[in-house]
Amino acid sequence: MEKQRGNFSGRLGFIMAAAGSAVGLGNIWRFPYLAAQYGGGIFLLVYLVLAVTFGFALMTAEISIGRKTGLSAVEAFRKLDKKWGFVGYLSALVPVIILPYYSVIGGWVTKYFWVFASGEGIAAASSDYFGGFVSQIGQPIGWFLAFIGITAVIVWFGVEKGVERVSKILMPILVILSMFIAAYALTMDGAMDGLKYYIIPNFSHFSVKTVLAAMGQLFYSMSLAMGIMITYGSYMRKDNSIESSVRHIEIFDTGIAFLAGLMIIPSIFAVGDPEQLLEKGASLMFEVLPQLFLAMPAGQFVGAAFFIMVFFAALTSSISLMETVVSIFMDKFHWNRKLSCIAVFAIIILLGIPSSLGNGVWSGIKIIGMDFLSFFDFISNSVIMPIVALLTCIFVGYVLKTSAIEHEVEVSGHSFKARGLFRIVIKYFAPICIVLILITSVLDAFGIFKL
Ligand code: TRP
Repeated sequence: MEKQRGNFSGRLGFIMAAAGSAVGLGNIWRFPYLAAQYGGGIFLLVYLVLAVTFGFALMTAEISIGRKTGLSAVEAFRKLDKKWGFVGYLSALVPVIILPYYSVIGGWVTKYFWVFASGEGIAAASSDYFGGFVSQIGQPIGWFLAFIGITAVIVWFGVEKGVERVSKILMPILVILSMFIAAYALTMDGAMDGLKYYIIPNFSHFSVKTVLAAMGQLFYSMSLAMGIMITYGSYMRKDNSIESSVRHIEIFDTGIAFLAGLMIIPSIFAVGDPEQLLEKGASLMFEVLPQLFLAMPAGQFVGAAFFIMVFFAALTSSISLMETVVSIFMDKFHWNRKLSCIAVFAIIILLGIPSSLGNGVWSGIKIIGMDFLSFFDFISNSVIMPIVALLTCIFVGYVLKTSAIEHEVEVSGHSFKARGLFRIVIKYFAPICIVLILITSVLDAFGIFKL
């Protein structure tokens, strides 16, 4: 049974939709804390190199597979080669793991919006505020439920279009506001040291872990290695250029991540103690920005405006994640939409609550040395996604052959400018790097080998 596929209206429509799914907490929340943690400039450099090589080749391959077959990931791999259907299933696992903890963070964002909007942003600027909040039981779970509840209601009633319209207006405003916030942060004492840390690579900070973190972040942020771009490709019109669309999405996604870093990392040096904050990890944005807003004129208002826009960026991502997971369930178990929604909702609650409690009462429970949230983040970004990416490269490079993708890119008379780069990355560069990184990082996670 072949579904009739709708099409995006033209190239801009495609880019906007794909970029809308790409831009989310990955850019604003995750990228800055990884950059801070993994040596600043060196992380940025590695990320950029990977984006124009790995990111470019993989996104081109995924969109082409989708457009060529007109199918979503599971079916697309199976149609191209029966034996490779499992890659589709493996990639379908990623959004299932990501969505619950994504919603926990979404809950934190919602809470911070509420705090600033209700005039209590000053309280949020104290150094123990965030820790006090996430380590509770009821509060963070309540906000998590609120966030996922809103997402689920929208998916249940199929009213995504309305949210998309709101977020299309808010996203450009978020970019402009972020520029102002970054500019303000850069005028503060000490911020220049932060800027230097962020953009000047220090090669002594380089390690295999930097590459692994940057690679996982690249996949996460550009929604790669999880079947999403295959699905998007299946809706793309034949006369749109894949190559230039990929370039635009990459520039857009990376630009927003860079800007978020520019706002947060110099602020670390301006308002706080870099020694301590650079290592913060997942809580970084929530600890640094309130202090910056406190120091700013009308900071209460700026903070509320900022967090509501981040909320919408997160919401559009969680909607499209939930949409993806629901359709996987519908296809796989032949359930109807409502039943799939209920099942997905239950899974999110089941995996999301431990992710929330792991910051407090369950912080003593560790899986290979990590709390639940970090574990879900690690297993998806640093294990499954690299494996899916590796298998995709092997499949495209050696089973399907790169020429099949090249033909798809060239449909309607487009020339494939980066063909040579594409081939080398897919066949040699990416697979070799991924294998090396995977082995060392898994050994490291299990404590067999210290990086
Ligand atoms: N890329 C999104 C972000 O940066 C997160 C994400 C991962 C996502 N997978 C997705 C969004 C699937 C939509 C659909 O936050």
